[in-house]
Amino acid sequence: MSNPVRDLDVGQPHAARMYDYFLGGKEHFPADREAAEKVLDAAPSVPVMARENRAFMIRAARFLAAEAGIRQFLDIGTGLPTSPNLHEVVQTIAPEARVVYADNDPLVLVHARALLTSTPAGRTAYLDADLRHPLSVLVSDEVRDTLDLRQPVALSLIAILHFLTDADDPYAIVAHLMNELPAGSALMLSHLTADHSPAADQVATLYREQGIPTVARSHDEVTRFFTGLHLIDPGVTTVHRWRPDTPDVSRTDAEVSVYGAVARKA
Ligand SMILES: C[S@@+](CC[C@H](N)C(=O)[O-])C[C@H]1O[C@@H](n2cnc3c(N)ncnc32)[C@H](O)[C@@H]1O
Repeated sequence: MSNPVRDLDVGQPHAARMYDYFLGGKEHFPADREAAEKVLDAAPSVPVMARENRAFMIRAARFLAAEAGIRQFLDIGTGLPTSPNLHEVVQTIAPEARVVYADNDPLVLVHARALLTSTPAGRTAYLDADLRHPLSVLVSDEVRDTLDLRQPVALSLIAILHFLTDADDPYAIVAHLMNELPAGSALMLSHLTADHSPAADQVATLYREQGIPTVARSHDEVTRFFTGLHLIDPGVTTVHRWRPDTPDVSRTDAEVSVYGAVARKA
């Protein structure tokens, strides 16, 4: 049986730990810091991207719980626990909401307990799984025991799909997951883009050089993930422009360089 602490592979930078570094967290090792500093040299706005991405996750989840009435969430590529976690956002609106988290980084598994602090009325579960194997997620005990797949589920893919190359066929993976979810379900996702700044391509290149396959995608390519779904206004935008609580004119698309959107399945 694998031991999550032994499997941490601290000599190699990991996406979850670099992201934690950009967000000002403490869960990273020298290899992660060194790789993250190289990224920061090329693109000093990466902490802004990370924070705006996280703020988008909160607004999108809040929208789906409060305005779309969704009570079940499947979050793949959860990352290290960060306040507020998705279940804290949605259970503030609907204490009975159920959330299954999944990630393939063993360090996230080590911290999964912090993701399992559900309200008594709701439920959370954590699954050690890879998005590239969507069937293993869908048939897992954690999903089957926590979510009712006959009722609407929001699939949350926040800042994960840029770690899937075209060879992984990410469009087929998203379509497979959405096909298994009933009408009324939703997709919320965010994705790195180089449409507004070549620095985002440099970020992707630096990640690849550290052994983390990464691809920035264009507006059209990100929009393609929503094929067959109904995009909620304002559609695919840089994340800081997606239903901001208060419009922040100080941020530019180039600084943010992450697209986000939410869609429903008819
Ligand atoms: C940049 S972090 C995003 C964390 C969180 N979703 C957020 O946006 O705040 C990307 C996360 O995706 C996870 N990840 C990357 N590729 C994955 C895969 N193929 N399957 C599952 N998780 C993956 C990483 O381990 C990391 O925790």
